[in-house]
Amino acid sequence: MNHLIETVGLTKHYGKHVALKDVSIHVRQGEIYGLIGKNGAGKSTLFKTMMGLAPSYNGEIKLYGKSSVSELDDARQRIGFMMGAHFFPYLTAKENLEYFRKMKGITDTKEVDRVLKLVDMEKIKKPFKSFSMGMKQRVSIANALLGSPDVIILDEPINGLDPQGIADFRRLVQKLNKEQKITFIVSSHILGELELMATRFGFIHDGVLIEELDRETIRNKTEEKVVVKVDDLKKAIYLLEQAYEQIEYTVNGDQELVISGMTNKVDEFAQLFVSNELKLFKLISQEISIQDYYLNLISKGGQKNV
Ligand SMILES: Nc1ncnc2c1ncn2[C@@H]1O[C@H](COP(=O)(O)OP(=O)(O)OP(=O)(O)O)[C@@H](O)[C@H]1O
Ligand SMILES: [Mg+2]
Repeated sequence: MNHLIETVGLTKHYGKHVALKDVSIHVRQGEIYGLIGKNGAGKSTLFKTMMGLAPSYNGEIKLYGKSSVSELDDARQRIGFMMGAHFFPYLTAKENLEYFRKMKGITDTKEVDRVLKLVDMEKIKKPFKSFSMGMKQRVSIANALLGSPDVIILDEPINGLDPQGIADFRRLVQKLNKEQKITFIVSSHILGELELMATRFGFIHDGVLIEELDRETIRNKTEEKVVVKVDDLKKAIYLLEQAYEQIEYTVNGDQELVISGMTNKVDEFAQLFVSNELKLFKLISQEISIQDYYLNLISKGGQKNV
């Protein structure tokens, strides 16, 4: 598997404090990678270390498969990193971004118009200080887009956005991911904020990357469902289809019936099977939410789950 960004056993100390412990993160091309961890978990430290802004670490950083110092410097030019950039309050979005364009040594004078258009801000002429949080966020993303990076790292971009702002932000990231083929790494301390956006998740706790999972795997672990095992699978399916027109189910490798949703019908299912003389070996409902899953992970004290 080719990883665009990878660390191998990355460990970072601040004095005696260990901010990252043996972190091996894997980000593939085309992903929207959600890095989830509470305050102080090590998210910003991981980004800064990857981007060469926090020297002196142990372990290895690989960007585009390369790991020598000069190759890492080159690779970092292709990564847009947004971490609380400070904008001039009395300048417009365009004037602010012109400043950053020149700072970054980008000579194409059309570049600022290009990135403003991508975030749908090209028509706004007001000063930065009058922008809503969502608009400020879009200027930050436009800033990260300068120079056409193929990876963008956003550190806690959702902080302070209202639900509408979160939804707009999600759509923007998904659009840029799809149309501009940009890989994203986005951090948050609230899993729910990234739940609908990220295609893969890494969970970090006390400097330890506990688990990396793709969205489908999390869905399978957290989706509401009822799992049934009986002595006569065909008969059970027949009974259920007769009784519930809308039922959706699959049969797993253990010949168990996995019914989507319907966790409030467990008692009815039991009665239906037993009254039709089926032997019931297993009947469980799973109602774990994605947030429960995350809390459960970190309640184990940050033990790696791999
Ligand atoms: N420059 C620094 N000097 C000393 N300790 C630091 C420094 N930067 C971070 N730390 C410590 O390292 C740990 C990880 O901090 P980091 O900022 O990476 O966490 P975070 O996950 O980004 O948290 P937040 O959600 O608050 O942004 C924390 O315990 C923090 O206090
Ligand atoms: Mg941080």
